[in-house]
Amino acid sequence: MEVNAVRGFNDILAPEIERWRILEEYARQVLEEFGFSEIRVPILEKAKLFSRSIGEETDIVEKETYTFEDRGGDLVTMRPEATASIVRAYIEHKMYAAEPMAKLYSIGPMFRHERPQKGRFRQFHQINAEVFGISHPMIDAEVMAIVIHYLSLVGAADYNLQINSLGCRRCRLPYKKDLQVFLTDRLPQLCGDCRRRMERNPLRAFDCKKPGCQEVMTEAPHVADYLCSECTEHFKGVQYYLEVLDVPFTINPRMVRGLDYYTKTSFEVIAGGLGAQNAVAGGGRYDRLVEELGGPDIPGIGFAIGMERLLLTLPKRRPSVDLALFIAALGEEPQKEAFSLSYKLNRSGVRTMIDYEGRSLKAQMRRADKFGARFVLIIGEDEQRSGKSILRDMKKKKQEEVPLHTIFEEITRRLGGGSP
Ligand code: HAM
Repeated sequence: MEVNAVRGFNDILAPEIERWRILEEYARQVLEEFGFSEIRVPILEKAKLFSRSIGEETDIVEKETYTFEDRGGDLVTMRPEATASIVRAYIEHKMYAAEPMAKLYSIGPMFRHERPQKGRFRQFHQINAEVFGISHPMIDAEVMAIVIHYLSLVGAADYNLQINSLGCRRCRLPYKKDLQVFLTDRLPQLCGDCRRRMERNPLRAFDCKKPGCQEVMTEAPHVADYLCSECTEHFKGVQYYLEVLDVPFTINPRMVRGLDYYTKTSFEVIAGGLGAQNAVAGGGRYDRLVEELGGPDIPGIGFAIGMERLLLTLPKRRPSVDLALFIAALGEEPQKEAFSLSYKLNRSGVRTMIDYEGRSLKAQMRRADKFGARFVLIIGEDEQRSGKSILRDMKKKKQEEVPLHTIFEEITRRLGGGSP
């Protein structure tokens, strides 16, 4: 019986894989230019890391994590995001000891048991970046500018940066109370989840996708109207520095994000043409999280870009064909020669292919064409005897004789390779 992949988990095949590698290479380049260094954190963490950081009463933790007891009886979770793990590592390795400021990035798979649809998968990939130790709104603007710079560099066109401020503990308290009063007055219109979460986490109602709740929330008070003076100043600063960097944005006072750890700045990049799952990136400030997870009082801010969603927004490139040479060999001795020559050429960086099956010349030429070879080298027994071979330029559709004993030098000269 055929065994297929798990629903929502995808293989990434050639030539699509090329697009992934380009996204990853640009991400490394941009983030390293801006002073980030790479961190690789495990895929499996203790379950309580996510319930304590993302929040017990979020959709992610309540409904979407892959959480199970391992064989030793420990409750573990396959990471649904990277921020919590990076914060854990930052604390665990006391990265703050000599200098609290740290800029870390990570690229890799995340796991959420959501209903798969366009742009939503159960295993998906994020480019994730976090900055620790800076409270100044300049860094908020810089982090957002990096996302926008990266998106335009990889060719994204139709997107919009939306920002909001979620305030701090001080301004959140009176806001939470008012929001609870507002929701209590509309209890019958709310879904079971929103009613249940109302007591401890009323903000989650903004995130609810049920039409009844969405309608109620259009009238709900906004946290931005409750900001304390420090948060107001900070949010003004963020906007000011975004303008300094020429980054266009819109304020979305209803954006609360699906994770509880955010304070002050939160943001999302919304792309056109993605349908319901239209956020290609999301992020924000989490000034309490390091302390809440057992570290010192150090602020943080970061973002994650969803790679599958970003790829959906980018134009499909024609896969580039970069097979340099196909060696068509006819007969046992020529095939041996082709075999060893192709090994040497591949080792020196000239992508070369041979036919292992001893097919006819016509069939081998067809394969060379199918794999998009730039040149074909034909070695038959006659050619081998006379010390010659035929090199055919598939683009110019011309061929010429070249001496067999200089073939390696000849090909590397024409195609550009190093020493074997
Ligand atoms: P998030 O908004 O949950 O934030 O995810 C960030 C991005 O990951 C989303 O904008 C989306 O592009 C992508 N994404 C999320 N879920 C899925 C899915 N099921 N399928 C495909 N793509 C998905 C975070 O994860 C935060 N850790 C971001 C952050 C970093 N905040 C501060 N630092």
